[in-house]
Amino acid sequence: MHKDSFLAHLPLLILSFCFSFVVAAQEPDVQKGKALFNANCAACHKLNKRAVGPALAGVSAKYDKEWLYSWIKNSTAMVKSGDAQAVAIYEEYNGSVMTSFPQLSNEDIDNILAYTDYTPPATAATAQPVAVVAQNESSLSNDLILVVLVLVLAALVVMLFLVNKTLKQIAAANGIEIVKEEKPKRTPLWKAYAQNPFLVFVTVVFLLLSSAYVGYSYLMQVGIDQGYMPIQPIHYSHKIHAGANQIECKYCHSSARVSKHSGIPSLNVCMNCHMNIAEYNGEEDLEKGYTKEFYTNEIKKLYKAVGWDENTQSYTGETQPVKWVRIHNLPDFVYFNHAQHVSVAGVDCQKCHGPVEEMEIMYQHSSLTMGWCINCHRETNVNIKDNAYYTKIHEELSKKYGVEKLTAAQMGGLECGKCHY
Ligand code: HEC
Ligand code: HEC
Ligand code: HEC
Ligand code: HEC
Ligand code: HEC
Ligand code: HEC
Repeated sequence: MHKDSFLAHLPLLILSFCFSFVVAAQEPDVQKGKALFNANCAACHKLNKRAVGPALAGVSAKYDKEWLYSWIKNSTAMVKSGDAQAVAIYEEYNGSVMTSFPQLSNEDIDNILAYTDYTPPATAATAQPVAVVAQNESSLSNDLILVVLVLVLAALVVMLFLVNKTLKQIAAANGIEIVKEEKPKRTPLWKAYAQNPFLVFVTVVFLLLSSAYVGYSYLMQVGIDQGYMPIQPIHYSHKIHAGANQIECKYCHSSARVSKHSGIPSLNVCMNCHMNIAEYNGEEDLEKGYTKEFYTNEIKKLYKAVGWDENTQSYTGETQPVKWVRIHNLPDFVYFNHAQHVSVAGVDCQKCHGPVEEMEIMYQHSSLTMGWCINCHRETNVNIKDNAYYTKIHEELSKKYGVEKLTAAQMGGLECGKCHY
């Protein structure tokens, strides 16, 4: 009977609801913490061994959260302020100075601490992300799961009523009499409700749809990194370079015009200017901790990476590659070409990348979804002026569509094969 098969699927349904919430619960994020740790802290700290600084495994148990936030953002200020714990650790390390990290948010630091607190399960040395997530569910997400379980239970109760009711109806239809106890005079509200198949049906549908909606919206977020703003190994500010100092995008991203990729400039390009710019003397943002010393220190990181010795004004030959964290990233099955958009179509970088010249820290401005590409192809006219390649095609196509202007879409910009390999 179909009711049986429905009941048989019930546990599966419940499981999948719960699962979608377990997956959603991933704060703080050990993986992100690991990346941040490697990019910012690993130069001086190891997890389980003393290096330039102390071993950091389990450090969050040693100090309170607020203290750690302040320390990591600006340890020098804390030592200067005479904070007893800060002075003690500073003296223990013979006055070595820890770099300040004003650019890290509390959330970043939570992620780093989640990583330094994290002990992989003894059996599997290479813990899978799922295991990591399970270990770090915050109490908030536990609450969420509880709420969902309660909802699911409620749905279950309602469904049982429904099944019971239908069975009775079937029994009645087949002429089987069910012996009933004597009914009370007035039916209580909940019973009246439970006996109204329509109301019950609406409730069940509502519960199912809302769980499905939450699950679906979460899943649709996967893979969209709009707003992604990783911490880079050198605090490089587009606001200072492309904004305040008006350096053209193409000075550094020179291949945007001629090739598929825009590329990140090599450090030699930086040294064209920074051989002579060793100190920062521009605008500061004291509120965020972006002081002149902070910026100058970042230029020193560049020197260290290319092996530039300021005293002798020569290269030492000792280099350390800078691994910029890639921000914009389309899946492998999508073909995107910068030259086509920048040179042929004449689209400004900002149209896709946002107000880069105002970005202190680079982030992903657009969603980079298929809908985003397609919308623009529908809206943007192809730049046909002075482009011999298009003159003929344009004449033919504009006859076909009966219009003067052609959008990228009409030129074939919606064909799957143009964007997909
Ligand atoms: C340039 C080297 C350096 C870097 C980079 C660095 N630290 Fe430190 N850290 C130190 C030193 C040295 C100390 C010891 C205190 C001192 O001398 O200031 C320290 C102390 C600490 C302490 C106190 C530990 C304890 O057991 O008392 C914490 C927490 C800490 N660092 C976290 C971090 C985090 C998180 C990062 C990365 C975001 C980081 N550090 C990056 C050098 C560094
Ligand atoms: C002085 C060199 C320089 C100039 C000028 C410059 N950039 Fe960059 N750009 C970089 C470096 C270095 C990075 C990598 C670090 C980062 O992401 O902040 C970068 C990263 C980017 C990224 C992100 C790349 C990724 O990983 O997805 C975009 C987009 C970008 N730049 C666009 C622009 C635009 C638009 C302009 C002009 C308004 C511009 N840049 C000017 C050096 C430069
Ligand atoms: C065309 C010249 C030029 C090039 C190329 C250039 N810079 Fe700069 N850079 C500047 C100027 C000008 C300043 C601001 C100096 C001031 O205001 O005192 C600056 C400031 C900085 C600062 C401190 C402010 C900040 O952004 O954090 C850093 C770090 C820096 N540059 C790194 C880099 C790196 C890394 C590259 C290569 C990807 C690079 N620069 C390429 C001219 C250049
Ligand atoms: C039509 C939209 C669009 C325009 C215009 C555009 N970009 Fe991009 N850019 C993208 C997309 C999409 C990616 C991701 C490409 C990928 O993952 O293959 C990207 C990636 C980048 C990257 C990362 C490295 C790379 O090549 O993948 C840099 C740097 C960059 N763009 C700089 C620029 C600069 C500078 C300009 C202007 C000269 C510009 N972009 C114009 C859409 C655009
Ligand atoms: C800002 C608007 C804009 C956005 C966003 C945009 N495009 Fe385009 N695209 C254009 C225009 C305009 C053309 C027409 C260029 C020309 O004249 O050939 C074009 C052309 C193309 C072509 C060549 C089509 C043909 O007929 O040969 C491809 C492939 C393409 N885009 C892929 C993409 C992908 C993939 C994305 C998203 C990651 C994207 N575009 C996002 C404006 C855009
Ligand atoms: C203008 C470029 C463009 C065109 C034309 C285009 N796609 Fe896409 N498509 C993309 C981009 C970009 C993504 C990656 C989106 C993401 O990562 O979120 C994508 C993703 C997809 C996916 C993966 C599902 C997903 O949402 O991640 C499928 C399937 C797909 N496209 C099918 C098609 C089909 C079928 C057509 C033709 C009707 C088509 N695409 C035409 C740009 C395009």
